[in-house]
Amino acid sequence: MARLICSGITSLDGYIEDQDGNFDWGMPDAEVHAFVNDLERPIGTYLYGRRMYEVMLYWETAPVGAEQPAYVRDFASIWQAADKVVYSTTLGMVSSARTRVERQFDPAAVRQLKAAAGRDISVAGPGLAAQAFRAGLVDECHLFVSPIVVGGGKQFLPDNVRMRLELLDERRFGNGVVHLHYGTSV
Ligand SMILES: NC(=O)c1ccc[n+]([C@@H]2O[C@H](COP(=O)([O-])OP(=O)(O)OC[C@H]3O[C@@H](n4cnc5c(N)ncnc54)[C@H](OP(=O)(O)O)[C@@H]3O)[C@@H](O)[C@H]2O)c1
Repeated sequence: MARLICSGITSLDGYIEDQDGNFDWGMPDAEVHAFVNDLERPIGTYLYGRRMYEVMLYWETAPVGAEQPAYVRDFASIWQAADKVVYSTTLGMVSSARTRVERQFDPAAVRQLKAAAGRDISVAGPGLAAQAFRAGLVDECHLFVSPIVVGGGKQFLPDNVRMRLELLDERRFGNGVVHLHYGTSV
């Protein structure tokens, strides 16, 4: 059974995007990025909300010349090799390989995907992830907490969801980011 994993780079007050729509304050440095790459490597399928997909689509055509850092080239190849499911009522065509569009989020279909998949699944975009949390489908969370308070914006975790968590791992990075790895099935 594959795990459904939700990961995000957040502010200390829990936002993945500030009130101005920015998340440049959370851009991973080389050390954090290399760590994220290792977490993402086993992912076989990404479930994306349409907005998150539009951000991540950068990696389909990201420059991967020798002048790019190794962690950038590595992440581009990890992303391109995985399957993607984009949830959207508006998206006409997708411009990445290994990608299909779903017009609605069906918890039973995701449960089936988890049962059948040989590799773990990631859910991203807080609007979409909220639905997976509410349906009790998320098995693990990875938070990368940046040393900043932004005061508002888009929350990583949804309102009105209560979960007991087990801390599975933690790590501190040189730039002040803290990684927290939680399991939800307590
Ligand atoms: N902190 C970071 O590192 C980081 C990294 C990347 C991105 N971000 C930010 O994260 C944000 C993305 O999160 P978000 O919550 O705004 O958006 P999201 O969850 O990625 O996407 C929301 C969209 O997904 C589609 N969707 C959601 N539920 C659906 C359902 N049940 N059926 C069909 N379609 C569904 C809808 O698309 P349609 O409108 O097409 O129907 C909806 O507008 C972006 O603003 C981005 O800037 C942050």
